[in-house]
Amino acid sequence: QTRSHYNFVVEEANYTRLCSTKSILTVNGKFPGPTIRVLHGDTIFVNVHNKGNQNITIHWHGVKQPRNPWTDGPEYITQCPIQPGKKFRQKLIFSEEEGTLWWHAHSDWTRATVHGAIIIYPKINSSYTFIKPYKEIPIIFAEWWKSDVNEVLREFLQNGGGPNSSDAITINGQPGDLYPCSKSETFKLRVERGRTYLLRVVNAAMNLILFMSIAKHNLTVVNVDAMYTKPMTRDYICISPGNTMDVLLHANQEPDHYYMAARAYSTGVGVAYDNTTTTAIVQYKGSSTPLSTPSLPNLPDYNDTTAAFDFITSIRGKPDNYSHGVPKKINTHMLTTLSINTFPCPNNQSCEGPNGTKLAASMTNISFQAPNFDILEAYYYHIHGVYKKGFPNFPPDIFNFTADSLPLTLLTPKRGTKVKVLKYGSNVELVFQDTNLISGLDHPMHLHGYSFHVVGYGFGNFNKSKDPMNYNVVDPPLVNTVTVPKNGWAAIRFVATNPGVWFMHCHLERHLSWGMETVFIVKNGKSLKGTLMPPPPDMPPC
Ligand code: C2O
Ligand code: CU
Repeated sequence: QTRSHYNFVVEEANYTRLCSTKSILTVNGKFPGPTIRVLHGDTIFVNVHNKGNQNITIHWHGVKQPRNPWTDGPEYITQCPIQPGKKFRQKLIFSEEEGTLWWHAHSDWTRATVHGAIIIYPKINSSYTFIKPYKEIPIIFAEWWKSDVNEVLREFLQNGGGPNSSDAITINGQPGDLYPCSKSETFKLRVERGRTYLLRVVNAAMNLILFMSIAKHNLTVVNVDAMYTKPMTRDYICISPGNTMDVLLHANQEPDHYYMAARAYSTGVGVAYDNTTTTAIVQYKGSSTPLSTPSLPNLPDYNDTTAAFDFITSIRGKPDNYSHGVPKKINTHMLTTLSINTFPCPNNQSCEGPNGTKLAASMTNISFQAPNFDILEAYYYHIHGVYKKGFPNFPPDIFNFTADSLPLTLLTPKRGTKVKVLKYGSNVELVFQDTNLISGLDHPMHLHGYSFHVVGYGFGNFNKSKDPMNYNVVDPPLVNTVTVPKNGWAAIRFVATNPGVWFMHCHLERHLSWGMETVFIVKNGKSLKGTLMPPPPDMPPC
């Protein structure tokens, strides 16, 4: 079932959804794309061949790639894009991950349709930390636009407002029964009464945190971001873009049809919100026609912050599965704000942002500008002028970030390609603080190359003297994406033992496009184990 080589041909294909057909970028003609299956500890190769008509890169989300950022994939961070007609052979090194991850394009908005699941099974002769499921099923959420996603991107960057919201959320590529022309294609999960199923859930949506629930069934979360968690049973899950979740489903109801439904959790003034619900069907064996019209599960309201964060903050890690414990002696403290900002509209025109401005986003009031040569090669070959060192410690630690009106001077961020350099082995604590500039919003913050412990969350301003006393350093989850609550904060810890250049960004694509990202450069350590591998011979040229 597992393989050590995969061929990914990036190509256009026609797909029909919501009664209309368009050409989309795919891998091997599939939407969602092919599933990669490996064993814990494997190293594999994926030959990426770009037969499309635009630049592309592919990223293996949550695969830590120890010492090997070369094939991590983010465009202009670790490589230049693979041009049409060109190939790149990417090495994937799985170290401690076990569970579900995913891969996706990391170039403009191409990940909307270029994504798929990665399943990492336990090593031979070892097993899951929970009951062996009868079957395992990937459940991939995405968003579908009737128009071309390149157009959606171009339009909002040019006009300066928010992007058009998608026309549907999809489950395994399908919008479900409630949408026109979709009914016959709705994804069906076939189950047998008395059996247990493992849903490998990926949120590949571009801009939406999602609630998901199955009518009359409970869901037990056992793994998040390919790290086991303490089992947690709820009647719904909340999953951010960038997170993956393994969820047990016990088929313990009357043989019938039941709806699985997902919809957006979405807050913030002026955020385009799509009020629709996508569905799939859980169909029991022996019930080819439903006894009655299946009912929809109860999902929390779209703006139910309590429901979202009650779920997210209740997840607990399994300390036995950490390869090293939670770092306790911190020597590198950082606090970074996450803000929505504006730039003046170019050429004295009027843009669609507040008061005719152009929307932007920032970390620590710096709106990241991607260079046109990748940072990893610039660092490795000592090429100057591509990036600047010294991610600032701004604003000051004591500041009312969530006040109703913040100084207008913060509205316009600085532009820059600033990186934060970390010494090998640093014990890092990073606090993300959302600000109420323009609007407070939830931000799923993702770091490449690492899993990190989420030691604390809170609403309002982070309090440096009080909040750390309530940190969970016993069983925090170990994840690659943390959802920072709207007008709140989250604190993470990691030990910088993976040398290289690692991207960190909000996984809401519109915020990434606006500049809510930065880069860590982790220096080499003294031993070989702490030293960057050499680059592969076929790095795409810039
Ligand atoms: Cu899903 Cu930069 O990542
Ligand atoms: Cu964000």
